[in-house]
Amino acid sequence: MKKYIFAFASASFLVACAPKVVVEQEVAPIKEQTETKPEVKYLAGKTLFDANCGKCHDLPHPSQYSKAQWSKIVPSMAKEAKLNAEQENQILLYVQYGAMN
Ligand code: HEC
Repeated sequence: MKKYIFAFASASFLVACAPKVVVEQEVAPIKEQTETKPEVKYLAGKTLFDANCGKCHDLPHPSQYSKAQWSKIVPSMAKEAKLNAEQENQILLYVQYGAMN
């Protein structure tokens, strides 16, 4: 009889604890993703922008132009700065992220 009580007790202990553990594991990564993803995604572009786009004139601010304007400015300026297509694309992502619209 004691065996059955023990088995029941440990089974309900497992059931009671299981959902809590699962919830914590699921929530943490989602929270992390939404909080850190934008910065991580645009960090490369920001670094390239800061390093290359203030050489010939003052460093512009992304909010000075609209997304449409940036999509014309960045390709022509990437040529000026002798950047490759990958670098151009990362800068474009960054400035459009912070653009006025
Ligand atoms: C080799 C020099 C040089 C580099 C490097 C350079 N620019 Fe320029 N930039 C210019 C010149 C010259 C002008 C003004 C003439 C023009 O608009 O083409 C200009 C103009 C601009 C303007 C004003 C455009 C407008 O229509 O009002 C913006 C914005 C700009 N640059 C952004 C950038 C960005 C972003 C980068 C980095 C990818 C960059 N520039 C790198 C030379 C440079």
